[in-house]
Amino acid sequence: MITLADAEATARAGAVLASLLRGREGIALVGDLGAGKTTLVTALVAALGGGVATSPTFSLVNEYRGGRFPVMHADLYRIEREAEVAELGLEDADGVLIVEWADRFDVLPADHLRLELGHADAGRTLTATGTGPQSAALATALTSALR
Ligand SMILES: Nc1ncnc2c1ncn2[C@@H]1O[C@H](COP(=O)(O)OP(=O)(O)OP(=O)(O)O)[C@@H](O)[C@H]1O
Ligand SMILES: [Mg+2]
Repeated sequence: MITLADAEATARAGAVLASLLRGREGIALVGDLGAGKTTLVTALVAALGGGVATSPTFSLVNEYRGGRFPVMHADLYRIEREAEVAELGLEDADGVLIVEWADRFDVLPADHLRLELGHADAGRTLTATGTGPQSAALATALTSALR
């Protein structure tokens, strides 16, 4: 577990993660309302050179191109039924797929990086785990880079 003292630390974690990605990964962002999920994605996309990410709270899926590789960013918070998930077109992602509230539906590949953000005092905590061999290596690399 890593402590992120302020929003800048969350953004730094996103930028460091960007530098470790190869371009085909799946990432689950899990954590309460306001845990810092969008802050991390915004910084990740910016670090790839793909421009500024807007929150997908209103649009359920945002796609960013023009960076080192494409990023598809989805937020499942407002999705209620499996049929709606199919309409998002997430299987068409040809780059990195990042999903907020990923615990609600099973949309990521079996081997994906799981980032859990939690509230801690004024700051946040970040726990990175892998669900398979590739993502486990990525989780270890991210955790040591942020220590
Ligand atoms: N490590 C941190 N310490 C303190 N504040 C933080 C930290 N990281 C992010 N924040 C702040 O928390 C607020 C919520 O962040 P953000 O919108 O990224 O959360 P979220 O998890 O995407 O929320 P939602 O579930 O509503 O989509 C923002 O004001 C952001 O600046
Ligand atoms: Mg958000």
